[in-house]
Amino acid sequence: MEHLVDTTLTLNGTEVTRRIPARQHLIDFLRDEMGLTGAHVGCEHGVCGACTLRIDGRIVRGCLTLAVQTNGKRVDTVEGLSDSGELALLQKAFHERNALQCGFCTPGMLLAAQDLMDSKPQASRAEIREHLSGNYCRCTGYQAIVDAVETALAVRGGQAK
Ligand code: FES
Ligand code: FES
Repeated sequence: MEHLVDTTLTLNGTEVTRRIPARQHLIDFLRDEMGLTGAHVGCEHGVCGACTLRIDGRIVRGCLTLAVQTNGKRVDTVEGLSDSGELALLQKAFHERNALQCGFCTPGMLLAAQDLMDSKPQASRAEIREHLSGNYCRCTGYQAIVDAVETALAVRGGQAK
């Protein structure tokens, strides 16, 4: 019989309690149970970054995290961070620099890029590449993606002056 675990997490700012199968991955819980399909499922073994989410402010792989591990934690998805306006600079830059083609990698790219914006606001182009190296783009739009992150960092730098 499936083992269910009572789990309470704060999901995009709202407290949620569910009985979750102990072996269910976070990405499947969010997509299948909570209807949050922004984060995607690609490789399912921690390589592609399509499933990138944030737990207590740190980016994680949703396909390598069990949903029950989020008990007592805050989980943010691309939907929540978009609604709050946190991703606005990056979203505008991605749009303007044509940094998405099919868009499959984009939610994960945005979360990884936002993590860099917060942790290293002066990041160089090489550091942007390094930080996004765990996120694959099957459309190979890497140049434009790095351009967009560079633009967003510059805009934010200008705003801070
Ligand atoms: S689906 Fe999680 S890293 Fe690829
Ligand atoms: S835009 Fe298609 S996978 Fe990146």
